[in-house]
Amino acid sequence: MTLSIQHVELRGISKRFPGVVANDDIKFDVRAGEIHALLGENGAGKSTLMKILYGLYQADAGEILFNGQPVKIKSPTDALRQGVGMIHQHFQLVPVFTVAENIALGLPSSRGAILELDVVSRRIKELSERYGLVVDPSALVWQLAVGQQQRVEILKALYRQAALLILDEPTAVLTPQEVDELFVTLRRLKEAGHALIFISHKLHEVMAISDRVTVLRDGRVVGGVNTKDTSTKELARLMVGRDVVTKWDKAALQAHESVLKINRLSARNDKGLPAVKSLSLDVCAGEIVGIAGVSGNGQRELAETIAGLRRAEGGVVTVCGKDLTNCSPAGIIDAGVAFIPEERMTMGVIRDFTVQENAILEMHACPPLARGVFLDFGNIVKHTKQLVREYDVKTPTLDTPVKSLSGGNIQKLIMARELTRQPKLLIAAQPTRGVDIGATEYIHKRLIEQRAQGTAILLISEDLDEVLALADRVATIWA
Ligand SMILES: Nc1ncnc2c1ncn2[C@@H]1O[C@H](COP(=O)(O)OP(=O)(O)OP(=O)(O)O)[C@@H](O)[C@H]1O
Ligand SMILES: [Mg+2]
Repeated sequence: MTLSIQHVELRGISKRFPGVVANDDIKFDVRAGEIHALLGENGAGKSTLMKILYGLYQADAGEILFNGQPVKIKSPTDALRQGVGMIHQHFQLVPVFTVAENIALGLPSSRGAILELDVVSRRIKELSERYGLVVDPSALVWQLAVGQQQRVEILKALYRQAALLILDEPTAVLTPQEVDELFVTLRRLKEAGHALIFISHKLHEVMAISDRVTVLRDGRVVGGVNTKDTSTKELARLMVGRDVVTKWDKAALQAHESVLKINRLSARNDKGLPAVKSLSLDVCAGEIVGIAGVSGNGQRELAETIAGLRRAEGGVVTVCGKDLTNCSPAGIIDAGVAFIPEERMTMGVIRDFTVQENAILEMHACPPLARGVFLDFGNIVKHTKQLVREYDVKTPTLDTPVKSLSGGNIQKLIMARELTRQPKLLIAAQPTRGVDIGATEYIHKRLIEQRAQGTAILLISEDLDEVLALADRVATIWA
């Protein structure tokens, strides 16, 4: 296979949204056989730039050149036709179709669909082997783990002969082992002459996989370096403009009464298989208990069962002595439990609601935000302003719909809302996934403060460094 793109260049790219300049005169380029990392704080404009290159957005100004020739990219279909593939933060596969069907979807077909699928399967196998993307073409997509779904997305792009692959935070949803496997694939793609753009908030990943790094801040390029000449420390400084704290001094743990008591809890996953298997665990006031280990071992189901979003099939959950097993989510919130879900796009916010509306979800009926049955808008505005300022949520206005915020900023907003409720128990699932290093530092600081105020915290994280930095005790769940 000969790849058509040797050099991709973006010149003077600008893009505005109401109230923000997402991209401001950006210059960026990537060559065949190179991995170029794009780094920047939440809302810096990375995804916007990539969506322009993929034809999802049109730039207000600037040009795109392939091999020195100006090109117009009008839509993702157009992008694919010209050799550009993008792996999104959120997958776009059809769950009830097989891998092969998903890959064949939308391809021009000259013959009957069934015959065609045969050919597709064979070619998938070839690509799989060549790039280390192991996946069964006949498997149904909903049955696949997240890491395997991502492989399908990559295969889909390769099948369409994408010479340039854009990967927008591909590792955010992966286990450490899956990250290693992805990196093997990326290196092979690079050797085969593909051009790759890699976005991640994890600096050690950027150091491990990229050849060059470009840093964006507030929509502008603020630095570009060769990876071999830089360090995580320098990258952090370029991004945030100062050094960041990764180690925390915590006050010694006071022996406190237990807040969360879980006794022989059982629950099933979405596929109906046992996920939480007779699990027992206690978390005391002022204590952070970390649950480490790769996801898919019931961590998520455990959190959802405690929060009342999944049925417990056996066992008991009590919070401050009160039996909350299979209570309604509202009852559980009333009992002082706050939940930062892993699936934030669907469970943590209402996407079409504004920042302000989302900031007061679940607490709009309590003073000072309500007076009797009326909402107190003055206080709501004040309250939201304060949350947005304290947590540095980048949003043009308080009336902006949440769906137009960048991924990390949505995350910060949920965190802000949940922590201001002064919960007795906080369940934090992957609290810094997709969050930039400055905001990660801030969220860690707030968790430590919350601990000092006596909140019991159950921290579920795949990031072992995070667990070790924060937790007083660590529990592991095995499948
Ligand atoms: N469709 C849209 N409508 C309005 N504003 C948008 C839209 N898409 C992005 N923005 C705004 O543009 C800015 C840049 O967002 P973008 O998603 O590119 O950031 P990012 O660097 O990818 O951040 P993150 O690391 O959080 O994913 C943000 O202020 C965001 O709110
Ligand atoms: Mg983004």
